[in-house]
Amino acid sequence: MKDIQQELEERRQVARLGGGAARIEKQHAKGKLTARERVELLLDEDSFEEFDMFVAHRCTEFGMEKDRPAGDGVVTGWGTINGRMVYVFSQDFTVFGGSLSETHAQKICKIMDMAVQNGAPVIGINDSGGARIQEGVASLAGYAEVFQRNVMASGVVPQISLIMGPCAGGAVYSPAMTDFIFMVKDSSYMFVTGPDVVKTVTNEVVTAEELGGASTHTKKSSVADAAFENDLEAIAETRRLVDFLPLNNREKPPVRPFFDDPSRIDESLDTLVPENANTPYDMKELITKLGDEGDFYEIQEDFAKNIITGFIRLEGSTVGVVANQPMVLAGCLDIDSSRKAARFVRFCDAFEIPILTLVDVPGFLPGTSQEYGGVIKHGAKLLFAYGEATVPKVTVITRKAYGGAYDVMSSKHLRGDFNYAWPSAEIAVMGAKGATEILYRSELNDPEKIAQRTADYEDRFANPFVAAEKGFIDEVILPRSTRKRVARAFASLRGKNLQNPWKKHDNIPL
Ligand code: HXC
Repeated sequence: MKDIQQELEERRQVARLGGGAARIEKQHAKGKLTARERVELLLDEDSFEEFDMFVAHRCTEFGMEKDRPAGDGVVTGWGTINGRMVYVFSQDFTVFGGSLSETHAQKICKIMDMAVQNGAPVIGINDSGGARIQEGVASLAGYAEVFQRNVMASGVVPQISLIMGPCAGGAVYSPAMTDFIFMVKDSSYMFVTGPDVVKTVTNEVVTAEELGGASTHTKKSSVADAAFENDLEAIAETRRLVDFLPLNNREKPPVRPFFDDPSRIDESLDTLVPENANTPYDMKELITKLGDEGDFYEIQEDFAKNIITGFIRLEGSTVGVVANQPMVLAGCLDIDSSRKAARFVRFCDAFEIPILTLVDVPGFLPGTSQEYGGVIKHGAKLLFAYGEATVPKVTVITRKAYGGAYDVMSSKHLRGDFNYAWPSAEIAVMGAKGATEILYRSELNDPEKIAQRTADYEDRFANPFVAAEKGFIDEVILPRSTRKRVARAFASLRGKNLQNPWKKHDNIPL
């Protein structure tokens, strides 16, 4: 018995060393943590339960039968984050460059299956040279098995991908199908084809960082949701994100202790909207003043900044926030902001997270680049996402709500539950100047007359009351009392039960 126990311990020691001390040192020299260090930091202390520590590959090509490291380049198992269960896999770059073999894939699939069965998120830490070259098609099959599980798990349990090294070729498509992708600056990259192939095919000369680094994917492509300075920060922020999320689609979001009075009045909000309707203000100020303890977890902060998406808590419960940002492009909707917000709304709806929408939108961005880029279809994504969402929806119009964008931004007509407006709200087909220039085109050469017409239009329409008279706005509220009103609205909706008609699935304009 003693011998067996000793053998177990020795085998564990070997497995824990992965590809050996020299490769671990190399990993550290690149500023990267090892697969196991990442898991230890991600999970609560001593909570990690490992699976398949001794699994080894079955490849016999290229002399591989002589090199069968325990674990086969991926550490898998489950543990807790602040006491709540998550499944995790962490690719070990020190073992065959973290490349994915048939057995490596089987280990990932095993924990994904358990996550779906037992209703807990999957967090995947990616650091891999891609398909295990020695295994050929067996490795490709392994990827596809993972992809299929990503699809099946989508909308059932939250899936989070941390990219902490190379992630190239078809390997990118597993993270791409997860809910959130976090990258580490300067040490991670994602691309379908690398710089060498790009040069051969298109003659473009580009570095790996330029082509698929954290900055590219958080600012240009929007493939990734956030970029962090190093592994440590990315892991800490992942723990913070998990605290906002339900464990699965059958559970309500978690309720955390809160120390912020839900009825708190904030007089500074009364002067947030400037006198001049064209002067911008920072919508983030409103978000942080509304949420418990000013805590706001922003998603895709660096992309399409004309719309803000992220999570706050009200009375300790998670609420997803979508807000136009007047500081950028006047807060208009365009291709990028519509896509960004639509995906966020769908995530919230899939996981029963109520949605708060803060509206100050002058309309859709005009122009050939928008029309040629398909703003019609992309704008429709957001419209569709709001329209199909059955979670509690509370909307506050702070200033402009013009045209089609008024309809899109969680209006009453898209089954908004509570639609509030501040006294400064202007709900109309368009701004006063544009409206009068169309209605009174024949008077355009008379500036005095036009000015009078514009003033008349403003008096008549630049307010929340026309919409309120029709019941499209449930109540005009004082800015200072917004937190209280919104918190009470969501509290009243805790028992909301709304279902869409049965269908196999919808056909959202992709
Ligand atoms: C087997 C691999 C490997 C792979 C790396 N290694 N990638 N082993 N299969 N795909 C091994 C190396 O042989 C080396 O072993 C160790 O991992 C570290 O690799 P290095 O090259 O020394 O590291 P580095 O200089 O940091 O470069 C990392 C890298 C490079 C950029 C990822 O290794 C690389 O280009 N690898 C090949 C990438 C690739 O073409 N993959 C297939 C893509 S196609 P030793 O023993 O020396 O430590 C694909 C399709 C997926 O993935 C399809 C899904 C549908």
